[in-house]
Amino acid sequence: MFSFKKPLFLFFIVMFVFVSLPVEITLSTRTEAEALVKWENSLSSFASLNSWSLDNIQNHCNWAGITCNDDTSVIEVNLPSSNLNGTLEQFSMSSLPNLTRLDLSFNKLKGTIPPAIRNLSKLTHLDLGSNYFYNIIPPEMGLLSELRVLNLSKNQLGGPIPYQLSNIQKVQYLHLGENNLESPNPIKFSGMPQLIYLNLSYNNLAKELPPFILNCPNLTLIDLSVNHLSGPIPESLMTSLQKLEYLYFTYNSFQGKLPVNLFKLASLQVLRLGYNNFTGAIPTEIGSITRLQILDLYNNSLSGRIPPSIGQLTMLEFLDLGHNRLNSTIPSELGLCTNLTYLSLAENSLVGKLPYSLCKLTKISELGISDNFLSGEISPFFLTNWTQLISLQLQNNSFTGNIPPEIGRLTELTYLHLYNNEFSGSIPPEIGNLKELMSLILSSNMLSGIAQDWSESRFYITNSQGIYPRHLECIQILSI
Ligand SMILES: *[C@@H]1O[C@H](CO)[C@@H](O)[C@H](O)[C@H]1NC(C)=O
Ligand SMILES: *[C@@H]1O[C@H](CO)[C@@H](O)[C@H](O)[C@H]1NC(C)=O
Ligand SMILES: *[C@@H]1O[C@H](CO)[C@@H](O)[C@H](O)[C@H]1NC(C)=O
Ligand SMILES: *[C@@H]1O[C@H](CO)[C@@H](O)[C@H](O)[C@H]1NC(C)=O
Ligand SMILES: *[C@@H]1O[C@H](CO)[C@@H](O)[C@H](O)[C@H]1NC(C)=O
Ligand SMILES: *[C@@H]1O[C@H](CO)[C@@H](O)[C@H](O)[C@H]1NC(C)=O
Ligand SMILES: *[C@@H]1O[C@H](CO)[C@@H](O)[C@H](O)[C@H]1NC(C)=O
Ligand SMILES: *[C@@H]1O[C@H](CO)[C@@H](O)[C@H](O)[C@H]1NC(C)=O
Ligand SMILES: *[C@@H]1O[C@H](CO)[C@@H](O)[C@H](O)[C@H]1NC(C)=O
Ligand SMILES: *[C@@H]1O[C@H](CO)[C@@H](O)[C@H](O)[C@H]1NC(C)=O
Ligand SMILES: *[C@@H]1O[C@H](CO)[C@@H](O)[C@H](O)[C@H]1NC(C)=O
Ligand SMILES: *[C@@H]1O[C@H](CO)[C@@H](O)[C@H](O)[C@H]1NC(C)=O
Repeated sequence: MFSFKKPLFLFFIVMFVFVSLPVEITLSTRTEAEALVKWENSLSSFASLNSWSLDNIQNHCNWAGITCNDDTSVIEVNLPSSNLNGTLEQFSMSSLPNLTRLDLSFNKLKGTIPPAIRNLSKLTHLDLGSNYFYNIIPPEMGLLSELRVLNLSKNQLGGPIPYQLSNIQKVQYLHLGENNLESPNPIKFSGMPQLIYLNLSYNNLAKELPPFILNCPNLTLIDLSVNHLSGPIPESLMTSLQKLEYLYFTYNSFQGKLPVNLFKLASLQVLRLGYNNFTGAIPTEIGSITRLQILDLYNNSLSGRIPPSIGQLTMLEFLDLGHNRLNSTIPSELGLCTNLTYLSLAENSLVGKLPYSLCKLTKISELGISDNFLSGEISPFFLTNWTQLISLQLQNNSFTGNIPPEIGRLTELTYLHLYNNEFSGSIPPEIGNLKELMSLILSSNMLSGIAQDWSESRFYITNSQGIYPRHLECIQILSI
């Protein structure tokens, strides 16, 4: 056995010397290097391409951003954030047939995306995002059948999303957000069965939800926010997307009832449907999506009650039901959502008292329940437990009683809006302890006694409205 080791050792030395010698570069790799330099020369600025030179052609596999295969043929061009300014006109696609990855994101490239991009037939990763490309997405891109990642986001691309893209059956990540794109042909754009991430936000998509989404069972994230989509969300959509975790439909014109099947998607963590025109009730089934962390239904036309089942959403951190037509009481079950940091029920027609159970929301930092018909007193027990509060907005309700002196314990409080209620008694001097306070509005109540004690602190100044902390930007204490 030992006798074999020496020849093996020598073999490695010979191999080492061999691979260390400059490699004879073949004609085809010279063509590749020349094609890259030709493109470089067409650019008016580039931060990091000094190594790209015909004098340095033997080393082209070590040029900035270049990766080669074992035969010194270029397989990757990775030049994100390289201050490239110019176009792709001189980028000779057919000279780089082995390219699998092209990343030119975050540059200043403009012009059209050339149809010759079809020649990069081995491409699996294409990122031209965050540039100034305009005109249409060339339908020829649909011939790039190996693509897994396609990112053309943050450009100025327009026209309909070409239906040919749906021929790329292996795409897992599709990001066309922040362009001026229109809806794809709903019949011809069939589906992308492997799709996991779909972002078409900030475009001009219109009319119905693109039906191809139904045929993408592996989707975990859909972002269609900020478009002009309308019509109802089909119930069937939701049954076919069992893996969905993140759904962003904000700023569209979706209407009709919230689809009940939406609430059977057990994996859902983020549901943003704000700024649409959904009507009808919030279904009781909402309690079944127990992994939900963000629920945003702000600015719709939802009516009826806040379902008590909402208390089952114990992982909820963000809940916004504001600016709807909800007219129930606040269910005491909401106090079970102890992970809440943001809670807004503002601008509805809610009635009754604040349930005592809300004392349990010890992580709450923003609480907005303004513009309702809420009444009753603010128990000091709320204030002793809400120690993280930054914003407390109770204005335009019918709250009564005193402002509890415990308010002074909310040392993070920055916004305190209690105006237009029926609070009475004197303003507690403890408000003077709130060093972070920037906006204090107590007007239109039945309060008395501007807190004279505040004047003892260096933070306070006086004017005709009274004495108040110097750093307050906005203060209205008396009726105006
Ligand atoms: C592409 O790669 C293959 C395999 O490494 C190689 O044989 C071929 O020459 C390369 N093509 C070019 C144009 O370099
Ligand atoms: C790109 O270069 C051209 C010509 O030098 C210049 O006019 C243009 O402002 C540059 N574009 C950007 C986005 O910097
Ligand atoms: C490259 O693309 C152009 C334009 O689509 C096409 O005419 C040409 O035949 C392609 N070249 C190769 C080698 O595929
Ligand atoms: C495009 O998507 C890829 C994959 O997630 C990501 O790494 C890249 O940063 C994105 N590019 C832009 C411009 O957002
Ligand atoms: C979708 O794309 C937009 C625009 O590029 C971006 O702001 C947003 O964060 C993306 N959404 C998700 C969920 O990644
Ligand atoms: C969905 O993903 C799974 C696991 O990643 C994969 O096995 C399956 O083929 C995909 N489904 C479709 C329809 O592509
Ligand atoms: C609610 O959304 C509509 C469009 O859906 C918009 O016009 C309106 O300004 C929004 N209202 C608020 C208070 O944000
Ligand atoms: C929302 O829908 C209601 C009832 O269908 C309608 O009266 C209202 O005008 C719609 N609002 C918007 C902003 O589209
Ligand atoms: C609350 O709203 C629902 C649905 O709009 C309505 O049927 C009901 O009468 C309202 N209840 C009250 C007390 O106004
Ligand atoms: C709060 O969320 C964490 C995960 O983010 C979870 O482990 C915990 O159980 C949640 N709290 C409650 C009361 O469910
Ligand atoms: C304050 O919160 C703690 C922790 O959740 C809870 O045990 C306690 O009962 C709350 N206090 C009141 C007065 O409800
Ligand atoms: C809230 O109160 C202010 C001040 O009294 C008033 O101008 C405003 O119209 C009220 N808003 C609503 C929605 O009632």
